[in-house]
Amino acid sequence: MTKTGLFISFEGIDGAGKSTHIEGLAAAFKAQGRQVTLTREPGGTPLAEKLRELVLHDAMDPLTEALLVFAARRDHLNQVIEPALARGDVVLCDRFTDATFAYQGGGRGFDLDVLRQLEQWVQGRAEGLRQPDVTVWFELDPAIAAERLASARVPDRFEAQPVAFFQQVSGGYAARAEVDAQRFVRLNAAQTREAVWQQLHQQFVQRGLLSAQ
Ligand code: TYD
Repeated sequence: MTKTGLFISFEGIDGAGKSTHIEGLAAAFKAQGRQVTLTREPGGTPLAEKLRELVLHDAMDPLTEALLVFAARRDHLNQVIEPALARGDVVLCDRFTDATFAYQGGGRGFDLDVLRQLEQWVQGRAEGLRQPDVTVWFELDPAIAAERLASARVPDRFEAQPVAFFQQVSGGYAARAEVDAQRFVRLNAAQTREAVWQQLHQQFVQRGLLSAQ
């Protein structure tokens, strides 16, 4: 197994069931002797967590929303993600820029060209755009996700959206996965938790990122 840093993001509509699998993957990497940095977006630093609160709970126009998620991302990259990758950690990040293209771009219908420019500003480096090495996409029918969310906690500004919004978010993810297919591990999240984990683990073994055990 290589000891260079590895950047993995996790995506999907609300209710797709990412959380337990992120923890499972963290445990699997640790069991193989890797240092793991577990983080999330928007958030991951004190400043970015404050921005998260605003984005999830305060009304604002779509450009403000896009600027805040990218501002949070900039701080997160500088303070947490880049230093962790430089140390050789496995960085497991619950959502990253694909979520912005899916939620602000697909869901809100915000201008994708502006998002691409912000992406360049925030993730641009001499070596090229910083992107995850692997993005795990939990694909789920928005109607099933809505059923799962109905029994969950008090919804935030996104979770409170109708099924049609999440159909557009899914379309946003599909468009990103289409242009960058190699980066995406696509999982059928409608299966049982155990079956989803089996798919996920198998894909990481196939890519040489985890050993078979
Ligand atoms: P989520 O990751 O689902 O966290 P939790 O499990 O604690 O609810 O919540 C983050 C929300 O923020 C989610 O609804 C998607 C949204 N979001 C955006 O709209 N744009 C972004 O760029 C990111 C990272 C998240």
